[in-house]
Amino acid sequence: MFCCISCKNNNERNLVNQQMANDKKSVIDQKVDSLLSLMTLEEKIGQMNQYNGFMDFTGPVPNEEDIERKFEHIKKGYVGSILNVRGVEEIRAVQKIAVEQSRLGIPLIFGFDVIHGYQTMSPIPLAEAASWDLKAIKESARLAAKEAAAAGINWTFAPMVDISRDARWGRVMEGAGEDPYLGSKIATARVKGFQGDDLSDKESIIACAKHFAAYGFPESGREYNNADLGTSTLYNVVLPPFQAANSAGVRTFMNSFNQLNGIPATANSFLLRDILKEKWSFDGFVVSDWGSVAELIPHGYARDASIASKLAVNAGTDMDMESYFYLNELVKLVNDDQVNTSTINDAVRRILKVKFELGLFDNPYKYCDKNLEKKIIGSTEIASGALDMALKSVVLLKNENQTLPLKKKGQKVLLVGALASDKDSPLGNWRAAAIENSAVSILEGMQQYDENLIYSKGPELILGKTEFAKEVQINTQDRFGMKEAIQAAKDVDVVVMVLGEHGLQSGEGRSRSRLDLPGLQQELLEKVFKVNRNIVLVLNNGRPLAIPWAKKNIPAIVEAWQLGSQSGNAVAQVLYGDYNPSGKLPMTFPRSIGQVPIYYNHKSTGRPNLPSADFVFWSHYQDESNEPLWAFGHGLSYSKFEYTDLKVVNNYSTNGIVKVELTLTNNSNRKGKEVVQLYLKDKFSKVVRPVKELKGFQLIELAPNTSIQVKFELADRELGFYDNEGKWFIEQGDFEVYVGGSSSTDLSRSFKLLN
Ligand code: BGC
Repeated sequence: MFCCISCKNNNERNLVNQQMANDKKSVIDQKVDSLLSLMTLEEKIGQMNQYNGFMDFTGPVPNEEDIERKFEHIKKGYVGSILNVRGVEEIRAVQKIAVEQSRLGIPLIFGFDVIHGYQTMSPIPLAEAASWDLKAIKESARLAAKEAAAAGINWTFAPMVDISRDARWGRVMEGAGEDPYLGSKIATARVKGFQGDDLSDKESIIACAKHFAAYGFPESGREYNNADLGTSTLYNVVLPPFQAANSAGVRTFMNSFNQLNGIPATANSFLLRDILKEKWSFDGFVVSDWGSVAELIPHGYARDASIASKLAVNAGTDMDMESYFYLNELVKLVNDDQVNTSTINDAVRRILKVKFELGLFDNPYKYCDKNLEKKIIGSTEIASGALDMALKSVVLLKNENQTLPLKKKGQKVLLVGALASDKDSPLGNWRAAAIENSAVSILEGMQQYDENLIYSKGPELILGKTEFAKEVQINTQDRFGMKEAIQAAKDVDVVVMVLGEHGLQSGEGRSRSRLDLPGLQQELLEKVFKVNRNIVLVLNNGRPLAIPWAKKNIPAIVEAWQLGSQSGNAVAQVLYGDYNPSGKLPMTFPRSIGQVPIYYNHKSTGRPNLPSADFVFWSHYQDESNEPLWAFGHGLSYSKFEYTDLKVVNNYSTNGIVKVELTLTNNSNRKGKEVVQLYLKDKFSKVVRPVKELKGFQLIELAPNTSIQVKFELADRELGFYDNEGKWFIEQGDFEVYVGGSSSTDLSRSFKLLN
């Protein structure tokens, strides 16, 4: 049934498009089958082998002998994909070997970690998530794909869709934060941005949902550590963003390094076969993480390379990234009937299919256009996209006494902090092909507004030169510059202090056991505060920080993460009021490290509240409150928003819909944007549900002093949950719905679900 003519036409068009897509699919399947029938076992296994191409590496460095062997293997058709080679010239040269010298001329796919930009860096993914702006996030991924594709890349190892509740874990910078609902929407946006509408398009590259699964739950926040979690969390928190990526058509998945309840993810057939390939019907391919097939041995799961290969391939890992195990072991395993030929055929089919979809068989040099490379990389289109995304990612955490925006005239401003003039740190951790020191610094950004701006660096944050694979050395001793900064702060109207973490303090291999301001920064902050309390603290960081002193004492705090190439321009526009911030935190900020993991959608306990003063037997700390420093979803604006008239219209028993309506008012003289958030609580349930769960949000722009009615609809998709067997379950009973500008809202109404 159609509600109007245009819907009817749309539906017909959708059917035709679907039909065409199916036809294309079956043509591809036929081509894959005929190619497969020509391949030797060795060539098939070759397709399942991925080598690092030597430029950048996230694992052990290859030696000369390795390099020679790798070239020989490409010639023999023993390599399906290469990672870390980039640039049109280099990629064309390697592709030429595969296409012209191997027996069947099967083209290679070229993978690269295009996580938040290729050469032009957009904000780190956690920052982008703070925008809650799905259109902007999709566009940011599209521009990253466009720039990477122009450099010859056709596969990005992104998006990372790992939910994490632990700010100690360095990779929280690469994800979308702690919430599975927001995380799923962002996963969809990123996959669609990278892959575009059609993979055969020159600007589309394949996406990779990683790391499957539970990598974001390492015990004690320590990188690569084990994850032990129950089915309720697995089904309702960890898996949904992966499922969303699959529904959005992501073509590849990557294993995680961790064990999940004792079974390493790389050899976990429950995850890879039962859930991913069967339940979700995923028809792309699974790549291991770097060397994770080999890591089955130190995990204590496989005795040797042969057993590791057998376990991984049988579990459903189709491609081996840089372990060399598949290539060395699988032929014998098949000949000894330890691995079925059908398992190999299935893996190779999946890989070849994606190569056909990319159009590489029609033109293996599809991504190798020198002119395009020159025109696109570093273009103004990409730079202005990065600026737009950076502006949208900023979160105004605190703004008392209208400290912000800064006045454009008549205010004497001092800028302090080593990060303020840093042109490298804003590029973040996964800086792909970014040029060193190429970001616009905050100093440069602010100088465009204030030619009299005074800058006093204060002590250095880091010692020596940073390197991607090396530990960052934090300065904890050398106070050179401290005195000058304090002195300079004495006679200015306002001090802007840029403090936080260096861009290489978060990311892979970069867990922290403290969440404070590293080095001498807290000391600097407190000493400057003693002489001038009018401080704007601009935070640069890749994870939530525990900075209760700053929250209590500093009048204005701006969360500016690592915002990428355009960092300084974006921060300056926000500070001077040319851009009205609208970001909201995608992760809870703790008051102290002892609260971690802390997250808004936790379950209640049997003793959640203090029954009377001084009573100890309830769920709490002696020495810290249970409350976060800043709640998930928190973020202010230069406008002032109010929520009123919350109403629930419950038609569930007639049409399966519960409507929620409210009025949002902009009670200020500034146009602004607000992320209206809706949370749900299923009060009593057969499996205990969280105290609140995000189930809807809308980004709304409102003119000064105007109101708008905001409407949400809740249906089975929002009202249900996965039970402990992984089945979607909707139950009758009492619900509470909350709306507001953060997860700490208490504006609520209750309703009952009756069938
Ligand atoms: C990381 C992956 C990354 C891969 C390739 C690994 O160490 O965990 O996320 O895609 O390296 O660089």
